[in-house]
Amino acid sequence: MATTLAKAADGGTQTTGPAARIEHVSKSFATPAGQQLVLDDITLDVAPGEFVTLLGASGCGKSTLLNLVAGLDRPSSGEISTQGRPALMFQEHALFPWLTAGKNIELALKLRGVAKADRRTRAEELLELVRLNGAYGKRVHELSGGMRQRVALARALAQDSRLLLMDEPFAALDAITRDVLHDELTRIWRETNVSVLFVTHNVREAVRLAERVVLLSSRPGRVAHEWRVDIPQPRRIEDTAVAELSVEITEQLRGEIRRHGQH
Ligand SMILES: Nc1ncnc2c1ncn2[C@@H]1O[C@H](COP(=O)(O)OP(=O)(O)OP(=O)(O)O)[C@@H](O)[C@H]1O
Ligand SMILES: [Mg+2]
Repeated sequence: MATTLAKAADGGTQTTGPAARIEHVSKSFATPAGQQLVLDDITLDVAPGEFVTLLGASGCGKSTLLNLVAGLDRPSSGEISTQGRPALMFQEHALFPWLTAGKNIELALKLRGVAKADRRTRAEELLELVRLNGAYGKRVHELSGGMRQRVALARALAQDSRLLLMDEPFAALDAITRDVLHDELTRIWRETNVSVLFVTHNVREAVRLAERVVLLSSRPGRVAHEWRVDIPQPRRIEDTAVAELSVEITEQLRGEIRRHGQH
């Protein structure tokens, strides 16, 4: 099953090369006003172990692109391939409320084919990785928003994918909780060497986290600009270097929004 979804999205699942390869991908949707071109000729690779943030104005097609990489939808043209089936994490935690934190993770392990006898230990290890030791038996309603996102992250990591796709996973959290989770995500990314494609419209968050920031234009979404972020990790969102690059990127983003407004 691991390869089926990825294959549905592209022509194949690769075992070498980039974690994700997006080649000349366009996507249109049928609307009452006719075909709407949302993504136009996107070409983008995510290298193994790389952390890329995809930044753009609301409605520019970020989630559409992530869904295509996830294999949840097909491009209208172009090709996408990934190293195995990616794991997904969204703004909404999408945990099963009738299961405990531990059982939510175990379900992902079960779907991956992990033997029953090993699931509990692995679930507890993953809870430890996201610093939720002791939360195994807690139900979703007993957890704070930040804790739920930690469980959702642990569940995504339970899939043992080489590529983690994240769509504004911290957008609903308060600034302090988000800050803590940025630190945790950076730590986990460095420890596991997973590749991450992270969608956000928050410029500071994009710079805080990524090795590379990719800015999408709006209507249609195209790769407008890319920045390498060489600021050493761990970074703080309030670091001067993070702030300075954020100012530069925000200027470009404003330009994109202005251009879009003139259409
Ligand atoms: N299934 C669909 N059918 C028709 N139009 C769609 C569909 N999915 C997305 N769109 C349109 O594609 C455009 C891009 O949507 P998308 O959700 O990818 O944007 P986004 O960049 O993720 O925005 P946000 O930052 O608000 O989450 C929007 O105009 C949206 O209405
Ligand atoms: Mg979106």
